[in-house]
Amino acid sequence: FYYHQAKSRKMKIITVSYRLPLSIKRQKDNVKITQSAGGLATAVLSYSEKSQKNLTWVGVADFDQQLWEENKNNYDSNFDIDPVYLERRLNRNFYNVFSNSVLWSLFHYFPSFIEYTHDGFEAYKAANEIVADKVNSIYEPGDIVWIHDYHFMGLAKIIREKHPQAKIGFFLHIPFPNFEIFRVLPNKVRRYLMEGVMGSNLIGFHTWENAIHFTECIEKMLGFPHKNFLFSQDTHRTKVGSFPISIDFDKFHNAYDNPNVVKLRNEIKDLYKDKKIIFSVDRLDYTKGITNRLNAYETFLNTYPEWREKVVFLLVIVPSREEITKYGERKKMIELTIARINGKLGNYKWTPVVYQYQSVDFDRLIALYTSADAALISPVRDGMNLVAKEYVASRKDLRGALVLSVMAGAAKELQESLTINPHDFEQIALKLNYGLTMSEEEQARRLEHMQRYLKKHDVFRWASDFLNETEEIHNKDTKAVAL
Ligand code: G6P
Repeated sequence: FYYHQAKSRKMKIITVSYRLPLSIKRQKDNVKITQSAGGLATAVLSYSEKSQKNLTWVGVADFDQQLWEENKNNYDSNFDIDPVYLERRLNRNFYNVFSNSVLWSLFHYFPSFIEYTHDGFEAYKAANEIVADKVNSIYEPGDIVWIHDYHFMGLAKIIREKHPQAKIGFFLHIPFPNFEIFRVLPNKVRRYLMEGVMGSNLIGFHTWENAIHFTECIEKMLGFPHKNFLFSQDTHRTKVGSFPISIDFDKFHNAYDNPNVVKLRNEIKDLYKDKKIIFSVDRLDYTKGITNRLNAYETFLNTYPEWREKVVFLLVIVPSREEITKYGERKKMIELTIARINGKLGNYKWTPVVYQYQSVDFDRLIALYTSADAALISPVRDGMNLVAKEYVASRKDLRGALVLSVMAGAAKELQESLTINPHDFEQIALKLNYGLTMSEEEQARRLEHMQRYLKKHDVFRWASDFLNETEEIHNKDTKAVAL
């Protein structure tokens, strides 16, 4: 019956993430609908089309129900959106307090930044229940549920309890720490998170290091043995693996010739025609090592004074999580550091750091990437860091140098980058100097190597590898049960 029912209709992928790929905002006299064509959405959509499945996206609404009802037919989409509404206070405790001030900081190895509260954890559990109810209500046999990120570590277990046969994949977009860091969490919290994700058939991380940390935590806490990262449980088996996320390579690569990009790039190049450009772009976050980066740039200007007035650092920071104290504090620190460097080293002819605290649209981003002589990416801890991949992909001209922190997952794959330790300012200065003086042949050789890799390992492959493997593990289980 189960098989028959599943066969007779078009199955779907239910993607769950905190952010929906759609935002609706009331403005003075109109309504603004923003659709995000992010890599994840594009990749899942493409997979669903190829595999002839429908796609439904479940996430937390940043709009109210009335606004949704009035506008739900006004967006242009090839998939369904099923918003979940969380009461304001619950959402604050779930998202700001527990997800971002506990899990985010701990998983990025900032245990001293944790602000654990009982209410935060209760809200996290409640939000996971509410979202699970939504998924459970739309789930039909044969569907695949793909859960994203640290906001929803409790979800898989709740769904599995209701639908024991469900195909569930969980992907963590941030690092997973080692046991000594993870154990900082109260025991009941750790158990909730681990038992929660173990409800999945497949659990994916960006790197093998993260997968190994997770596996060790499971062995130590739950005592489950595994064979080649495959855990056998009573109801299902769970596989743990590494699936480094990527980008839509062609989109970034081909944007080079887009007329608007060419125009914007010419403007930038003209503005800084007698200077080399160092560029970076990040969301505001203490994990991104932005103050380190600025201090390292100062060390660079002091170690190689010949670069003064001959280089400019274009620093773009995209506003993020501003209501959280640690983010507001970080912003102040960054701005003070910029002011200090510009005040100390700059003059009426030259501003060493040109800073923008705003998001940039796609064309401007590509224009900046493709004007930059070096991209300086120095997170102190980062799950992947897609900026590094985007910079490499966008350099169709095979010019530029990538200076990249070894603390970013991307450093494992982008082997021809100039790697740095984000705390070692002298090393960063040295690599910056190397990157800015690198021969055109060497720039091209390094970029070509990394582009070849990224072209093959793009976000479409990432999504299909992950979803195919979720199906595979699940199907083997179902076969085993039938036998
Ligand atoms: C990281 C997380 C995502 C998150 C994004 C933006 O990439 O892995 O889950 O959506 O940051 O952060 P925000 O808090 O604005 O969703």
